[in-house]
Amino acid sequence: MPATDALDIVILAAGKGTRMRSSLAKVLHPVGGKPLLGHVIDTASAIGPRSINVVIGHQGADVQAAFADRQINWVEQAEQLGTGHAVGEANKTLNGDGVVLVLYGDVPLVTEATMRAAAEAAIAGHVGLVTSEFSDAAELGRIVREGGTIKSIVEYKDADESQRAITEINSGIMAIPADELSRWLKEIKPNNAQAELYLTDVIAMAVAEDKDVIGISAEETEVIGINDRTQLAEVERLYQARATQGLMLTGVSMADPSRVEIRGDVTAGEDCFIDINVVLAGKVSLGKNVTIGPGCVVQNSIIGDNTVLHPHTLVDGAKVAANCALGPFARIRPETVLGDGVKIGNFVETKKSTLGAGTKASHLAYLGDATLGENCNVGAGAITANYDGVNKFETRAGDNVFVGTNVTMVAPLQLEDWAFLAAGSTVIKNVGNNELAVGRGKQRNIPDWKRPDQQAAEPKDADET
Ligand code: UD1
Ligand code: CA
Repeated sequence: MPATDALDIVILAAGKGTRMRSSLAKVLHPVGGKPLLGHVIDTASAIGPRSINVVIGHQGADVQAAFADRQINWVEQAEQLGTGHAVGEANKTLNGDGVVLVLYGDVPLVTEATMRAAAEAAIAGHVGLVTSEFSDAAELGRIVREGGTIKSIVEYKDADESQRAITEINSGIMAIPADELSRWLKEIKPNNAQAELYLTDVIAMAVAEDKDVIGISAEETEVIGINDRTQLAEVERLYQARATQGLMLTGVSMADPSRVEIRGDVTAGEDCFIDINVVLAGKVSLGKNVTIGPGCVVQNSIIGDNTVLHPHTLVDGAKVAANCALGPFARIRPETVLGDGVKIGNFVETKKSTLGAGTKASHLAYLGDATLGENCNVGAGAITANYDGVNKFETRAGDNVFVGTNVTMVAPLQLEDWAFLAAGSTVIKNVGNNELAVGRGKQRNIPDWKRPDQQAAEPKDADET
């Protein structure tokens, strides 16, 4: 593989994106949970260029802010005078040696292989141009060939009937030796239907100098650009197909890949199974043999081997160990840490809580700011009262603690090993080792209780109907 250490990448992202009809900059719209531009930057980074330069204009500050943590050379193009002008503005900030690869912030699915192929053509001294056969070429630039050789690109608005009939289109992606690019950019004139500086004019300039223009053909699905929200949705589907396929090839089975959404970086061990209507978002790591039932959402979480998520369970920002069973209808909120073999049943919510190995909360409970040891049992309707309206307080329990049904644990609270909280108790005092805490009104039984009589119905008011 030729060295890419003299490769500068220029990504164009200054356009307005009018057809998105959005207050959000076009390149910040997400696909697979990541901004369009993020996809391009990530793939570009993967080929190891010496610099990544992004040309910004409309909403440039927003775009820049969204990638504040990345090593990017931001180039401001104050006026959008055309793709040739945009590349020229970036080129001014480059060394003038090596090769330049031009990419687009609104063309997110381009693969590393295609980027590399274009760059390699330029590293070999040619021009690399990525083209594609489109079923509907619409208003894209057409590739003009003679005897199979690329001669020029003609923009739709400048094309005659026979040129408009060409189905091979310009993706816009090209790689050019830097010294020649610098020379050609100066020669571009806005002599065209749009009075713009067309980057595409460099192709005819290369041909005039007997340079080889190497066509790299890509699938339509790879170089599709986004101008409006229908194309955004189309690209989302293409991305999802790719992402779910990638996961299946690592050993994950899916009931229906078209009904699994991947909105982030997901890794999985072998023999996981993902049922329908599952959303995986952010950074998700699944161990081996994890089962995710229908309707589950897992976000920024780590799930251990053999753990089962029963239907409609939400796991967000949690660390779940092996052999756990969660749900159905459980809500595991951020900073939850569950030990081996924990069982969380239906309508249980956890937040910022740690449950030791073997601990169970099988139904209808809230555990917030709680730390429970191993093999505890939390009964139905048990609640940590962790909030006084202003401050949050912690509940701490040792091992083998039994929390009866409908217990309110008023934090701050300390429960030692083997503490036993009687059903229905409001527990406000710490409970020691092996102690039983009963905190509820004494039961009274009143004999011969007379139930209320049915009251006589009010006479109907004639005016009121
Ligand atoms: C361009 C190509 C066309 C190709 C098509 C692929 C030219 C002259 N035409 O057409 O052959 O088929 O892309 O999508 O290059 N941009 C800037 N600054 C500018 C102008 C554009 O940053 O001054 C950016 C836009 O934000 C956009 C990209 O460049 O991401 C393409 O610009 P656009 O105006 O959409 O070019 P097209 O007319 O679609
Ligand atoms: Ca366009």
